[in-house]
Amino acid sequence: MADAPDTPGDMVTLNVNGRTIEAPRGTMLVDAAKAAGIEIPIFCYEPRLGAPIGACRMCLVEIEGMRGLQTACSTPVAPDMVVHTESEVAKDAQDGVLELLLANHPLDCPVCDKGGECPLQDRTFRFGPGETRTVEPKLHFPKPLDLSPLVALDRERCIACYRCVRFSQEVAEDGQLTFQERGDHAEIATFSGDPYEGRFTGNTIDLCPVGALTSNPYRFVSRPWDIKNTPSVCAGCSVGCNLEATERDNEVKRLTGRPEPNFAVEEGWICDRGRWAYPALRSPERIEAPVLVDAVGRRKVLLDRAVKEAAGMLGAPGLRIAVLLGEPITVEAGFLATEFAERAGNGRGLVRRMGIPGHGLDALRALPGAQMDHIDGADVVVVVGGDPCTQHPVAELRLRKARRRGARVALAGPRPTALDPACEVIRTTPGHLLDAAPVIAEMLGAAERPIVLWDEADLAAEPGAAATLAQEIEAVPAARAIEMASDVSGPGLRALGIATAGDMLTAMEADEVDLLVTIQADPTTGPEGARWSQAIEGVPRLIEMSTYRTGLTDRADLVLPLLTALEDEGVLVSMAGRAQRMRPVARECAGAASAWELLIALTHRLGRPVPDRTPSQAFARLAAQHAPFAGLDYRELGTTGAVIRQSAVPGAGASAGGEAGAGGAGARREPEGEGLLVIPCRPVFGDATAHRSDALASVVEPTRVGLAPVDAERLGVRTEARVRIATPHGQAVLPLEVDSRLAEGAAYLFTGDPHRGATALLAMDGGPVRAVVSVAQREEVST
Ligand code: SF4
Ligand code: SF4
Ligand code: FES
Repeated sequence: MADAPDTPGDMVTLNVNGRTIEAPRGTMLVDAAKAAGIEIPIFCYEPRLGAPIGACRMCLVEIEGMRGLQTACSTPVAPDMVVHTESEVAKDAQDGVLELLLANHPLDCPVCDKGGECPLQDRTFRFGPGETRTVEPKLHFPKPLDLSPLVALDRERCIACYRCVRFSQEVAEDGQLTFQERGDHAEIATFSGDPYEGRFTGNTIDLCPVGALTSNPYRFVSRPWDIKNTPSVCAGCSVGCNLEATERDNEVKRLTGRPEPNFAVEEGWICDRGRWAYPALRSPERIEAPVLVDAVGRRKVLLDRAVKEAAGMLGAPGLRIAVLLGEPITVEAGFLATEFAERAGNGRGLVRRMGIPGHGLDALRALPGAQMDHIDGADVVVVVGGDPCTQHPVAELRLRKARRRGARVALAGPRPTALDPACEVIRTTPGHLLDAAPVIAEMLGAAERPIVLWDEADLAAEPGAAATLAQEIEAVPAARAIEMASDVSGPGLRALGIATAGDMLTAMEADEVDLLVTIQADPTTGPEGARWSQAIEGVPRLIEMSTYRTGLTDRADLVLPLLTALEDEGVLVSMAGRAQRMRPVARECAGAASAWELLIALTHRLGRPVPDRTPSQAFARLAAQHAPFAGLDYRELGTTGAVIRQSAVPGAGASAGGEAGAGGAGARREPEGEGLLVIPCRPVFGDATAHRSDALASVVEPTRVGLAPVDAERLGVRTEARVRIATPHGQAVLPLEVDSRLAEGAAYLFTGDPHRGATALLAMDGGPVRAVVSVAQREEVST
């Protein structure tokens, strides 16, 4: 069913319960009444699922001049309409519907996860008959059934509202959920009988207005009166979905979509990676206490002592310090890192971030930007490079929505994606995104409201394609662009003018760094990891600030544990340039601190304190100093954020030189090495957090190499064989997946779990590399 396009209409005057109200023409009666403060009970109505279907009959109202009762969710307002939502007839109908819905409902509210936050409870209390006339025994079914390892189904509680089915059919478009059987035996199931699997399955739990669908990891964990919900932001990828986090006993127990969605970002949908990432907080890899290594040996110390020791190391005169930022890093922490380095390094401290330098991306970054909801109204959407479905999952839902609304949606690049069956595919051979340019130009030229989503990593690897794409977009004045940023820290840190770490590595290799501070960064598992390992070996002192153990933890002289994003406070900037506030949900690790807290404390210990005591104070100062944040106020960011001035981000100018490095705009970059061209694939369902969350065990994507059948045949290997993949930057032994959708002559490298060493094989500047893939011997391991 196609979504109705937004068409602003003129106003209609009508009468509801004796009150004269106004609503835009086309508004459904239920919404018009709600806007006027009159509640009409609903269950199945959910505008995000498309046109109303009138399945539950809960919203029956009396409309003068119309025969019988009408469903307010599917009846548009009309001039001079006279509506009664509380008349005897209407109330009788509401009573009747609720009585019927409860006829077989088990009323097991005391043991139901939904109890206390359940629309069925609330509406029964407010609109129901108060007592039942049903004396017959209720139907009972085996329960719960696992729809999947993550979603449990309690058939007895289902009120057949179809919300979950419509989400599956019309939003995620995975076509999996349906009703089986009829009448009181109707049951939610998958068509195939297989588990309900996908990237967005958890949204059905949020949508279910009763406790029929529940989260397996959250079952029986808490009751609504024992919990506190906090709005925050997902740090899983740069989409920056808004979510709500549930805390009990100082532990994060649950993540859900926001009941009041941020329509400019995620519309209330979150992906399963974001939803079930929270068990990673309790991963055995978590660093729980500071660790000091000195003449006495290696031992745990208290946080105060650790900060004092760090200050002692940093206080040495003439010290050349370097600070490396990874992800997630809030803009306050990034800003305070520069202030800290300036003080500790006597003006010579180097602060850099991990990430792709983005040679040749300046012109693309200078183009007018867009927010995620602008995709809904586009008539042409082109995705250039990357794979939004696996790298920025919720973007996939926007693209599907745009297509349902009639937009022409195309994906250009060398990777097969889950959107291919639904959209136009401009398949390019690996390394030749430029080949898509003529088709893209034709599509943009014929469009009135085009939007281009371009992948930072892929376009950085092909500056020629980046320059051409920028020209094509610029030629269409109405065109807007969104950069699909590769990491969650990048957009914010770039706006602060913090460059990537190429020159830091060179400085370490030239023995020009005396002390390295890493903050949520382990470059030894990032691109050119082996080179970083060697360079860090030569640095006399290392302070690591990290949430989880990394390849550097055993090498560090001092380890300071950091809070996770769900425990921390501060601002992240999304890929669409929206500054959004994370809020602390719980503090599960007593021995850990925020990066901003530690940086402030260190400046005090060094005798040159920054004036800030809180992230909001740091934000106020950075907003005063950095043009992209000018005019933004921490408190006014509220729960939905505000867009930074992207045109003021350093380097966002077609004529700007960008960051120093090889390959200017327009240059063609030849791949390093020999063998198959490496196509990096970075699924968030395979990233480090996904691997650390036991809840995601059934859906986590393995780190692996993908080959086309012809290349696998040449090697004499099949899926699940172990292959050795070697680039100029190192080698790793990984499982193989043979997939007929992959291009011949390329090695698709599904990176993710940092322990598997796949990312370390890539080039630090994002440039293309080749790899020799061979059959691994049984005893071979990654090096
Ligand atoms: S499982 Fe929940 S969302 Fe799905 S039809 Fe039943 S009540 Fe509605
Ligand atoms: S799409 Fe990205 S930001 Fe949104 S919930 Fe998923 S991982 Fe988090
Ligand atoms: S809410 Fe109107 S029929 Fe279900």
